[in-house]
Amino acid sequence: MDKKIEVIKGDITKLEVDAIVNAANTTLLGGGGVDGAIHRAAGPQLLEECKALGGCPAGDAKITMAYNLPAKYVIHTPGPVWRGGKGGEATLLASCYRKSLALAVTHDCKTIAFPAISCGVYGYPLDQAVEIAVREVMAFLEKDDSLKKVYFVCFGDDIYREYERVLK
Ligand code: APR
Repeated sequence: MDKKIEVIKGDITKLEVDAIVNAANTTLLGGGGVDGAIHRAAGPQLLEECKALGGCPAGDAKITMAYNLPAKYVIHTPGPVWRGGKGGEATLLASCYRKSLALAVTHDCKTIAFPAISCGVYGYPLDQAVEIAVREVMAFLEKDDSLKKVYFVCFGDDIYREYERVLK
């Protein structure tokens, strides 16, 4: 099952996978970070489709087409903003991964790529966020074998090292 998980460095907008996950905000109307990169690469039709979705609560996920991206779908999931850890952030972050994986499977995706949700602007401590990400993906792969590959895409060395540490 571990061989289904792969940690890679790079830009998620370049990946030819069935679904890439976007660390969005609850408006789904774009932003900076990976959200901005995905909207820039997908083109304006992505925002048009997102406008019709009416937002998405933190911890939930919604799926759109990917337009000019090499992926087939974009799964938008707003992560929690880190506020010290006493406001249910861990539960919300775990839910982002679970809901995104479930949406990918219902759309017959075989490959999916995650950025480090909430680890940028939203300030989630990297070690805690990566442990949640790996735990949730492994738990999902144990009970559902329709996904062939789950990529953790790291935009920097620090994130890459954290995933490697947790996966060892
Ligand atoms: N490919 C892969 N990962 C990326 C890319 C990219 N092109 N760009 C950024 N990242 C990484 C960041 O380095 C970080 O590790 O994605 C992770 C998530 O960081 P953010 O994009 O800042 O997302 P998040 O912390 O979840 O904050 C979400 O930021 O962009 C806004 O609209 C977004 O309001 C929302 C908030």
